Amino acid sequence: MSEFVPASRLEDIPENGMKGVMIGGTAVVLINREGTIYALEDCCSHEEFPLSSGDLVGSEVTCALHGARFDIETGAPRALPAVMPVRTFEVQIDDGEVRVALD
Ligand code: FES
Repeated sequence: MSEFVPASRLEDIPENGMKGVMIGGTAVVLINREGTIYALEDCCSHEEFPLSSGDLVGSEVTCALHGARFDIETGAPRALPAVMPVRTFEVQIDDGEVRVALD
């Protein structure tokens, strides 16, 4: 069973925005899309650039370096130059605290 660890207060993740955090040495980007929180590894699979520096458009995050896009729910690449997915993590919200399972 996955262990969920604290990542952020919910109110610190802007609506339709992103926040990069470090959890136990892993860079994670927390994404707030219309009140639902998603968590992905904050590392583009193309050249390891932080996705939290990019843009959220609908259900995709666009890498700021070369424009690859990823599905925020599955981590699947949606546009070149990335061809590999990014990791996704389970999220729990408990009393305003966002927790992430790094597995
Ligand atoms: S590092 Fe993200 S698209 Fe190249």
